[in-house]
Amino acid sequence: MSASQKVVVVTGASQGIGAETVKAFRKLDYRIVATARSIKPSDDPGILTVAGDIADPATAHRVITEGVARFGRIDTLINNAGIFIAKPFTGYTAEDYAAMTGVNLNGFFYITQLAIAEMEKNRSGHVVSITTSLVDHAIDGVPSVLASLTKGGLNAATKSLAIEYAERGIRANAVAPGIMKSPMHAPETHAALGALHPVGHMGEMSDIVNAILYLDAAPFVTGEILHVDGGQSAGH
Ligand SMILES: NC(=O)c1ccc[n+]([C@@H]2O[C@H](COP(=O)([O-])OP(=O)(O)OC[C@H]3O[C@@H](n4cnc5c(N)ncnc54)[C@H](OP(=O)(O)O)[C@@H]3O)[C@@H](O)[C@H]2O)c1
Repeated sequence: MSASQKVVVVTGASQGIGAETVKAFRKLDYRIVATARSIKPSDDPGILTVAGDIADPATAHRVITEGVARFGRIDTLINNAGIFIAKPFTGYTAEDYAAMTGVNLNGFFYITQLAIAEMEKNRSGHVVSITTSLVDHAIDGVPSVLASLTKGGLNAATKSLAIEYAERGIRANAVAPGIMKSPMHAPETHAALGALHPVGHMGEMSDIVNAILYLDAAPFVTGEILHVDGGQSAGH
């Protein structure tokens, strides 16, 4: 294993888009630090798994310190862990609010701070956060204020980070998905969810993974919110 191999941290890596992102980076010979609550140890020496709740700052600390101890550096952070609770605004409970802000915002904040501190040592790095296209076009019948509050915050923070670190070699971008065929959505909902996109169907997890890989290989792109949403953000 060469010390020049890049190291990527992926949150929410136990299933869905995060698990597919791990596979794609591994094919490119990145070394991986993968985290989620239910993630299992890997037989692959190029993959370190760290189990924990990403809303807890202690998990972020373990992921970055164990990742640096094993692989020596952090090149890219993919903030993919996220949850979605669709409810009428007044129906959200304090528990819903705590859960969504915990995973979507705390889960971004603590690990991004620690990862960027490592990236600064090499004057090089990249943070990609997975947000949602809903932030830019609320859909009648899909009540989603807490998604907009949290993921909209990540879009805004992405631009802010991009500018704060532009001259220090660290980029920040986001991918804003439409509705993707991941374990988040049961197959029997796919037809109705597909109809919410101008192209008439849902996206594949590979569409998001390809967007992440593009951004990671695009040194002149920073502060971008890349919509991968079948045209949703363009209009209806
Ligand atoms: N699928 C879509 O249609 C869609 C649309 C817009 C945006 N997104 C965003 O895309 C990202 C990935 O979504 P997905 O569709 O792949 O979802 P998913 O299949 O539900 O996977 C979510 C991942 O997040 C992890 N996670 C959830 N709560 C966590 C916690 N408290 N601590 C640590 N990890 C936690 C889960 O692992 P554990 O349960 O093992 O912890 C899992 O690995 C999310 O940020 C989501 O908001 C998805």
